[in-house]
Amino acid sequence: MSNSMWGGRFAEGPDALLEAINASIDFDRRFYAQDIRGSKVHIAMLAATGIVAKEDAAAIFKGLNDILVEIESGNFTFSRALEDIHLNIESRLAELIGPVAGRLHTARSRNDQVATDFKMFVRDALDGIDVSLLALQHVLVEKAGEHARTVMPGFTHLQSAQPVILGHHLLAYVEMISRDRGRLADARKRLNECPLGAAALAGTSFPIDRYMTARGLGFDRPTANSIDSVSDRDFVLETLAFASICAGHLSRFAEEIVLWSTPQFGFARLSDRFSTGSSIMPQKRNPDAAELVRGKTGRVIGAFVALMTVMKGLPLAYSKDMQEDKEGLFDALDTLDLCVAAMTGMVQDMTFDEKAMRQAANSGYATATDLADWLVRVLGMPFREAHHVTGRIVAVAAEKALPLERLPLADMQAVEPRITDEVFGVLGVNKSVSSRNSYGGTSPRQVAGQISRWRKRLAKE
Ligand code: ARG
Repeated sequence: MSNSMWGGRFAEGPDALLEAINASIDFDRRFYAQDIRGSKVHIAMLAATGIVAKEDAAAIFKGLNDILVEIESGNFTFSRALEDIHLNIESRLAELIGPVAGRLHTARSRNDQVATDFKMFVRDALDGIDVSLLALQHVLVEKAGEHARTVMPGFTHLQSAQPVILGHHLLAYVEMISRDRGRLADARKRLNECPLGAAALAGTSFPIDRYMTARGLGFDRPTANSIDSVSDRDFVLETLAFASICAGHLSRFAEEIVLWSTPQFGFARLSDRFSTGSSIMPQKRNPDAAELVRGKTGRVIGAFVALMTVMKGLPLAYSKDMQEDKEGLFDALDTLDLCVAAMTGMVQDMTFDEKAMRQAANSGYATATDLADWLVRVLGMPFREAHHVTGRIVAVAAEKALPLERLPLADMQAVEPRITDEVFGVLGVNKSVSSRNSYGGTSPRQVAGQISRWRKRLAKE
């Protein structure tokens, strides 16, 4: 049997393998609601412009509503032979209301239809993820508030660098997520032009009102170039780029959670709700959720690379390759949403061993920079020389296995005779963090300021 939608040109039906490779209904049914909404606004416009008679439009409108109910109540039979969501719905419409259903596709093609549907889907999905990201920011800011004075070692090269405040470290992720949300908002804003009415690629000879459909579907305006309208998947790529960068941030945090919750670090403890045990080693508390947040980043980035690869060689306008835009996007956004939620839960429950963190901050010579700064400030030494002198003092302390603040003054004076016991005033970790009071620095004063800035900002959203 030849296809009922374009059978006029064909004597034979499709090979089973064509159907297998061609059908997208198994995944694109996910935006049935957007497809029906698009069709309803399209038929309303066709009626308003006199292209389709009001009675016909009313019958189509009602049929579409009935189909929505069928799908949502699980009473709709999806058919692979009907390829995709668009043809499945249109064919069911014909069953329900007869040949008048055929008027719906006036001045429209599946090319502009799918671009419109998918933009609406992506738009809705982005709005949902934005809410999840906001919730994660809230939880991070509250944790930061609980640890606005908790000292930990800050790292570079994963070597103890300088003491920092845990709240400051957590707020670093709030900043990252804020940029992620900015990228999301940007992508959403740019995608919000309506392709419907571009038809197959060249526009249409019918006197349609594209501003009306654009408005009706919540777009800011119609797209301006019909060829670009059906060829463009930038909105999917931008969404995947946002998702990849965001997943990357979550992954870095996940990696820190994995590290911090090892007995060797002992900085953080995941709640029972977010830990798994081992079937053989009773002592284990594994951070599986954090590992999976880290691991799942691969598939999000993979979806971006896959679609980039699909798009980069496509001539204008539509090619069926573009149907490959969907599964990756669905998977990437589902994955990201789950990872954000899991991260939010983990952080909310997570507790920190303040003593272990302070001890670690004390033990890695993390206040060596403070000693060097003191030599500059008090003795007037050039920083490079102060760095060298401090290095020698750290070597002596390491040899004696003492933290800097417990190294006898005589040992320091053996390296630099002008050092006085005033130096001990800067060697403690509390002094060290308090002194870093430059804007955006780690002093408790700066951190408190940032926490209240974030609280106010998030409360407004
Ligand atoms: N299922 C198709 C897609 O996702 C819809 C557009 C098909 N257009 C066409 N001319 N075959 O891209």
